[in-house]
Amino acid sequence: MNDLLSRTRAAVWHPCSQMKQLEAAPPLAIARGEGPWLIGTDGRRYLDAISSWWVNLFGHCNPRINAAIIDQLGKIEHVMLAGATHEPVVALSERLAELTGLGHAFYGSDGASATEIALKMSAHYWRNTGQAEKNGFISLKNSYHGETVGALSVTDIPLFKSTYAPLLRHTVQVPTPDARLAEPGESAEAYALRCADALELHLAEHAATTAAFIVEPLVQGAAGMAMYHPAYLTRARELCDQYQVHLIADEIAVGFGRTGTMFASEQAGIRPDFICLSKGITGGYLPLSAVLTTDAVYAAFYDDATARGFLHSHSYTGNPLACRAALAVLDIFEDDQMIAANQTKAVEFTRVLSGVAEHPRVRNFRHLGMIWAFDVADVTPGFASHFHQAALAKGVFIRPIGNTVYAMPPYVTSAEEMRGLADAMLVCLDRPSV
Ligand SMILES: Cc1ncc(COP(=O)(O)O)c(C=O)c1O
Repeated sequence: MNDLLSRTRAAVWHPCSQMKQLEAAPPLAIARGEGPWLIGTDGRRYLDAISSWWVNLFGHCNPRINAAIIDQLGKIEHVMLAGATHEPVVALSERLAELTGLGHAFYGSDGASATEIALKMSAHYWRNTGQAEKNGFISLKNSYHGETVGALSVTDIPLFKSTYAPLLRHTVQVPTPDARLAEPGESAEAYALRCADALELHLAEHAATTAAFIVEPLVQGAAGMAMYHPAYLTRARELCDQYQVHLIADEIAVGFGRTGTMFASEQAGIRPDFICLSKGITGGYLPLSAVLTTDAVYAAFYDDATARGFLHSHSYTGNPLACRAALAVLDIFEDDQMIAANQTKAVEFTRVLSGVAEHPRVRNFRHLGMIWAFDVADVTPGFASHFHQAALAKGVFIRPIGNTVYAMPPYVTSAEEMRGLADAMLVCLDRPSV
């Protein structure tokens, strides 16, 4: 194992990491996975309590997803999607259209590429419809939409963004409806509507130069699982219609059942102009993202002139193996009635976590669907890393964001396994050094 760690430090530049810190806190060397468990090269087992950066839905090495990919491997592993097509990408597009009501699917690889696609497509739509000056973007304060240069322009997390400010396009951030920011006595809904008023003020003045408002529906994940009332989205939809601005729902983290419905925007009763999907789309197996959009957007590109088309591309767009994995994921949702099953499970898991919610250091305990989060009081510098290490010692893989601890377990996690997670959280919270 030590050999693997020294080799990884020498040859692999790990994401979202200061490599020097890996000396003191080496990455976990993983040999294999089994359901919600990661199994280290030393044979130790760790509960994957955050679903491997929120991608895993039905566990590691899921037999049904494995079988679909193996079957596809015997047919065609990849073919470029410009000038060719194949059954898995067509079937997936049809099924996503049925689920979202958005009938045109454009594919990318990671979440950030979906954000790039949605932003470019929106601005290009306005250009094709004779309003090229509508090319600005709005996002929420503390939002996260990925870290490629375009996506980072609409992200608002200083740690990731400030260094690259000179490379980025100016965008505008409007107040976040994060329910924790409500005034004492103000409901989450009233606060959400107050924030929507601020959005309206901006749109009233700048709609003529604004292409789209991009938003993480219901939960701002990277901000620390900031949750907000769906009334914000309902009002944002009305305002975007009124002021002729696209609404982009970035469902990359919250799509595929994470918030208790297949897509989070459903809870606000809205249909966005664009939905960005990734992460859980393949059950955490293969990189794939999709941007779904309306007939109206599609029609604005449909023309004899090549330059009016959407000429964006990535080599692995619509990869057949990834699409087959995604189709297997959708089959599991249907066959196992996962949305209903998760609703029952979530009630039980919330009960299991009640001791954590009542711990004296815990603030703002919150829950939506298959996400639980809380903020920890009286933290010392390095809290996230200390908590992470202490949880590893208890067999749980969890990575706090700042002083926010959250669980986003794979849907195959059992109540017994959640009890183990709750016990580990309590031990970490009781540690004076954490
Ligand atoms: C809401 C949201 N959008 C976009 C992204 C970027 O996705 P990726 O890391 O696959 O580029 C993420 C990743 O965490 C995300 O949470």
